[in-house]
Amino acid sequence: MTAEYKVHGDVAVITMSNPPVNGLGYATRVGITDGLAKALADAAVKAVVITGAGKAFSGGADIKEFGSPKALAEPNLLSVILALEASTKPLVAAIHSVCMGGGLELALGCHYRVAAPGTNVALPEVKLGLIPGAGGTQRLPRVLGVEAALNMIVSGEPVKSERLAGLPGQKLFDKMAASAESVLEEAIAFARDVAAKGGDLPLMRNLPCRHPQGDAYFQFAKNMVGGMSKNYPAPLKCVEAVQAATKMKFDEGMAFERQNFIGLMFTPESAALRHLFMAERAAGKIADVPDDTPQRAVKTVGVIGAGTMGGGISMNFLNAGIPVTILEMKQEALDRGVATIRKNYEAQVKKGKLKPEKYDERMALLKTTLSYDDLKDCDLIIEAVFEELGVKEKVFTQLDAVAKQGAILASNTSTLDVDKIAAFTKRPQDVIGMHFFSPANVMKLLEVVRGAKTGKDVLATVMSLAKKIKKTAVVSGVCDGFIGNRMIEQYSRQAGFLLDEGATPAQVDKAVEKFGFAMGPFRMGDLAGNDIGWAIRKRRSVEQPDMKYSRTADKLCELGRFGQKTGAGWYDYQAGKRDAIPSKLVEDMIAEHRKELGITPRKISDDEIVQRLVYALVNEGAHILEDGIASKASDIDMVYITGYGFPIFRGGPMHYASQQGLFNVVQAMQRFGRNPNDDASFWEPAGLIRKLAAEGKGFDQA
Ligand code: NAI
Repeated sequence: MTAEYKVHGDVAVITMSNPPVNGLGYATRVGITDGLAKALADAAVKAVVITGAGKAFSGGADIKEFGSPKALAEPNLLSVILALEASTKPLVAAIHSVCMGGGLELALGCHYRVAAPGTNVALPEVKLGLIPGAGGTQRLPRVLGVEAALNMIVSGEPVKSERLAGLPGQKLFDKMAASAESVLEEAIAFARDVAAKGGDLPLMRNLPCRHPQGDAYFQFAKNMVGGMSKNYPAPLKCVEAVQAATKMKFDEGMAFERQNFIGLMFTPESAALRHLFMAERAAGKIADVPDDTPQRAVKTVGVIGAGTMGGGISMNFLNAGIPVTILEMKQEALDRGVATIRKNYEAQVKKGKLKPEKYDERMALLKTTLSYDDLKDCDLIIEAVFEELGVKEKVFTQLDAVAKQGAILASNTSTLDVDKIAAFTKRPQDVIGMHFFSPANVMKLLEVVRGAKTGKDVLATVMSLAKKIKKTAVVSGVCDGFIGNRMIEQYSRQAGFLLDEGATPAQVDKAVEKFGFAMGPFRMGDLAGNDIGWAIRKRRSVEQPDMKYSRTADKLCELGRFGQKTGAGWYDYQAGKRDAIPSKLVEDMIAEHRKELGITPRKISDDEIVQRLVYALVNEGAHILEDGIASKASDIDMVYITGYGFPIFRGGPMHYASQQGLFNVVQAMQRFGRNPNDDASFWEPAGLIRKLAAEGKGFDQA
């Protein structure tokens, strides 16, 4: 049963019941129309109340039906709302907790609404690259006023019911209930009252809709969202749809809304946003670790190393109210680390992002120590010391000796073998990788590295802890670079080849930034420090001496041009400024290197630049799937969106490749493989890509 029907005296109650948020899936929609038909046929019933069971009125469309024919099967939401409007008996929505998207549109189709305080009310469709598609843009402005409604529709953000109830002249809520617990009872009483009074049943479609400034206001609103409309077309369509409500007859406005809703549904931008919405939820699901896997309690955290990462990692837990003890080798290092944390919080207070009393609360949760003994009661200990296996060995041996039974021992290593680290202890089941990204207090991504022996309860605990500290956690297997850095290495290699063949750093960066990346590879290198990649290449040259790569980046580092921190990198920088100024010296160095290689520079198109960089990610991503390092392509997309500035409206590298058509991707890879200045062996398309291309499928159908 996904909707229940019950008669309370002379009032029928239809209760949507489709956990977790009473999504309006097919069966629920049928349940509502069936319930309504029963109520209308029963002469003893004088009025009808619709409400939701459990923790929501309704969260809107049922995401389980996304993209399936069931989502549009009759009765679709529009038909359900038409049926409600046509009811000859008063219809009251009893709203509480969550009333969003289609759920709100359904409530807007009822004659009356009684709402509980604290209800989150929203039309969040814009976040999926859509506009509301069942009357939201036509009805909400009629009852809230054009501006308040448009703000909600364009932002997609929830607003509390009591705030909406306080808006002057609002007709959204006919009555505010005392509480979520009493809303049903109060709605039944309200329904009984209006039935007894008789008279016409109010319909929103009959209300006027206008803005005093008319088109001038809408022009202003269009200017506000116009800048982003190339990559995000939905907000502008939201404005147009609300404007239509002020200009057209109700049914024409509804048709305008529907047409634009369907048009947006087929845009690549909306497909990307819907993909990421699902990908984020899917990232938390691990096939062999069910949701009910027992978890360990994490009430106190230890962090070893108070450097760049240790400080940021600590802040995540302090922000979540979890006490942290940081351990270092020397008092000076501790003092420096704590001072950085303080400075970060102070900056937040100055910007008004953190209340001064919160600052004190957080700092009070922080303890420091030079002794491992002080970590013996910690439930989780995260190591963020130098990236050397020998140093990690020392740390984990000591941890094994002092940490309490059942403590989780995590490493923030970015390249080392987590299984080897686990083997330094007698409890490899308790060891896991927690790979944070810099700055660790800001970046959303957390790669959770599952070792060969990591316990399922340990994995489940860390995944749910990640949520608590507001990270997007993606599980990775053990390999060099895990998911994100293993892929970025191929991307960087391509960036180097492009320089050798005739591009400039600025041209490459601009092409990639035009594609939508937050930053191109060379500006990124200058920001992160070019010496990091240099160290990795030095190691690689020992491990894989045959790996082909451009030597330009090494030459840059040999000149001491590590990036912003040394005042010069791929670009020049003026003292105290971050603007990247193309460097004559670097361009000469690249030209000199081309000569040494005997390459005659050629003009390279922006399309080729973008394809080589992005498809390098895709091919390595496919190998990562084949190797079982990532369990699904959408996990790789989450890594790239949340950790590497990949454009959100493109949905991540794997989704983007699927949208381009994997057959076309294979063709492009083969073309790149024939370029003598590139690495032919790398461009052999991964077997998985070939297979999916042959079957006409994308990665999401693998
Ligand atoms: P860092 O050099 O800024 O900090 C390391 C800190 O560890 C130093 O303060 C040092 O005094 C301390 N330390 C070294 N040996 C120690 C020991 N035996 N006991 C206690 N403290 C010790 O290094 P960073 O950048 O914070 O990196 C730390 C770890 O995080 C490395 O494994 C690195 O690969 C990883 N990582 C770094 C990222 C970055 O962007 N910097 C990103 C993700 C991971």
